[in-house]
Amino acid sequence: EHSNYLVYHGLLLPRAVHSQDSLQYAENFQVQDEDIFVVTYPKSGTTWMQEIIPLILSGGDLTPVHTIPNWDRVPWLEETRTSLVIDKMRCPRVFVTHLPYHLMPRSFFSSKAKVIYVTRNPKDVAVSSFYFHKMASFLDDPGLFDKFLNKFLSGQGKRKKSGLKVTMIMVVTFIPIIISQQMSFVCFFFFLCLVLFGKWTDHVKCWRNLDLGDRILYITYEEMLQDLKGALVRFSRFLNRELTLEALEKVAEHCSFNNMKNNTMSNYSLVPEDIMDSSKSPFLRRGVSGDWKNHFSPEQEAKFSAVIKEEVKGTSFKFPWD
Ligand code: PPS
Repeated sequence: EHSNYLVYHGLLLPRAVHSQDSLQYAENFQVQDEDIFVVTYPKSGTTWMQEIIPLILSGGDLTPVHTIPNWDRVPWLEETRTSLVIDKMRCPRVFVTHLPYHLMPRSFFSSKAKVIYVTRNPKDVAVSSFYFHKMASFLDDPGLFDKFLNKFLSGQGKRKKSGLKVTMIMVVTFIPIIISQQMSFVCFFFFLCLVLFGKWTDHVKCWRNLDLGDRILYITYEEMLQDLKGALVRFSRFLNRELTLEALEKVAEHCSFNNMKNNTMSNYSLVPEDIMDSSKSPFLRRGVSGDWKNHFSPEQEAKFSAVIKEEVKGTSFKFPWD
């Protein structure tokens, strides 16, 4: 039986687009000072940014977003496409990544590469992720929403049978070593971090309070929804690529949810139905803030908020949805 996932430093990743080679490639990737990284926890606005940033860099010329699929236009650093398209990428190169800070390429830390970190209300992230698990055949079925939410919150979840078997074999094999503290730490991670790309709070926290100074810009999906042009101005200033008023209008217009939904280079309609089934749920699904209200019971909401609040306690987060 084939598991849909591989585990990388305690993170669960879909095999469909990741391999040991692609992860090794990311680890050793030679970052250039001009590189731009858009960092997101999955379902937080990645695809949107794959549209926006190339348009800012092109000064509003729509050619890149009309001719190159999003996964090649702004590839995921850790995925298998990057090494295949890297030679065709023009400077400044733009990448998206879901990696936590400490797993960024070694050369990133000493570079001047810039980062835009996009955060989204975790309740909406959970809902979006739930539907994504339903439509993507390379992910496990999400099961019941309540169970999915608990798993999302805790980072824990039961693996499929094959995963469980492997885990049992590992436990039995490693019992003598588990006694050593280091190994039990590793096992702890192996058991617990079984949500795609780890727990939401771990991701947002590891990308805060860094030594990156003005190399990093933080923005939220909700701010982008509320005032896209304002967000575009922030991005373009950050990247030193100010747009003319005309270009700004054009980019904002093109990056609206409805226009992106109609762009075959960005709406995942190029992916065969047996891999992503848009009749179950389209990839560009609703594109709103607050859809969680249509899915969470009051009890689920109370628990979710309490857990997130507790886990970000002591940090300086100010989220627009609070
Ligand atoms: S992934 O799989 O991590 O790349 O997904 P990601 O692109 O980060 O997140 C998908 C959600 O982003 C929404 N989206 C948009 N919202 C508003 N405007 C635009 N232009 C836009 N483009 C993508 C997309 O609809 C997913 O959210 P939900 O809530 O499921 O609709």
